[in-house]
Amino acid sequence: MQKIKLDKKVVLVSGANRGLGKAIVEQLIEKGAAKIYAGSRNIESLEELAAKYGNKIVPVELDVTSDESIDRVARQIDRLDVLINNAGRMSTGTLLSNEAINSLKENMDVNVWGPLKLSNAVRHHFLDENLTAIVNIISVAGFANMPSLGTYSVSKAAIHSITQGMRGEMASKNTQVFGVYPGPLDTDMTDGWDLDKADTITVAQNILKDVENGVEDIFPDPMSQQVGTLFFSSPKTLEQNFAKMV
Ligand SMILES: NC(=O)c1ccc[n+]([C@@H]2O[C@H](COP(=O)([O-])OP(=O)(O)OC[C@H]3O[C@@H](n4cnc5c(N)ncnc54)[C@H](OP(=O)(O)O)[C@@H]3O)[C@@H](O)[C@H]2O)c1
Repeated sequence: MQKIKLDKKVVLVSGANRGLGKAIVEQLIEKGAAKIYAGSRNIESLEELAAKYGNKIVPVELDVTSDESIDRVARQIDRLDVLINNAGRMSTGTLLSNEAINSLKENMDVNVWGPLKLSNAVRHHFLDENLTAIVNIISVAGFANMPSLGTYSVSKAAIHSITQGMRGEMASKNTQVFGVYPGPLDTDMTDGWDLDKADTITVAQNILKDVENGVEDIFPDPMSQQVGTLFFSSPKTLEQNFAKMV
């Protein structure tokens, strides 16, 4: 399959108001994207991006847990080349605990049902002849369960599987499907964590570079590269290493 170039492309990014999503939007502009539908639950939180980049940014109110919100955004979009399913949450919950079910549901709603519903709402854009892409932001926690983030890991394993399935479904179309597996990032999600965290600008640059290079499984920071290497050589060792992180 041909490799996609991001200049002149129309892109939808969920969770675009802060963290990795915001960095991706800014790096898409650097790459010459034509228009970015920047999704956020609170449209006012996109004002800074809109003020900085003018009419290249189209702020859209998007809550990926709301069918109505997803449908409204999908109806607004008349052309789409790239969907970046970035919105995510980390409800901390372990699996053998009273909070297991609620925590798993919270993580699944945003990290699994959200991107699956959003992808389906705009899937008609991926069925024609144009070269297009779907980019799912997953996590190293999708490769093996981190018991301290047990329910989050389950949701990321599910979107990892969805990504593989979408890739297979799209194999005969002109749509590339990418899975992105970051390690810890310096965003609100890891606030208070005492460990090395990658900066979002570099990670966003690495993600977009790999998309343009046609790399399907993207490890955009040093920690994720180590995890990726270990996963492909010994998934069991990765499971054991993550278990020690409890
Ligand atoms: N941070 C890490 O260490 C790390 C590592 C690996 C993977 N990831 C993944 O990277 C992605 C971005 O995370 P981040 O680190 O940038 O986290 P973040 O700073 O907490 O940002 C999360 C983003 O998702 C949005 N969001 C949450 N629930 C939503 C919903 N129901 N509908 C629409 N948007 C929603 C947030 O919007 P609001 O402002 O409205 O809350 C925010 O824009 C996530 O998928 C995350 O799982 C993060």
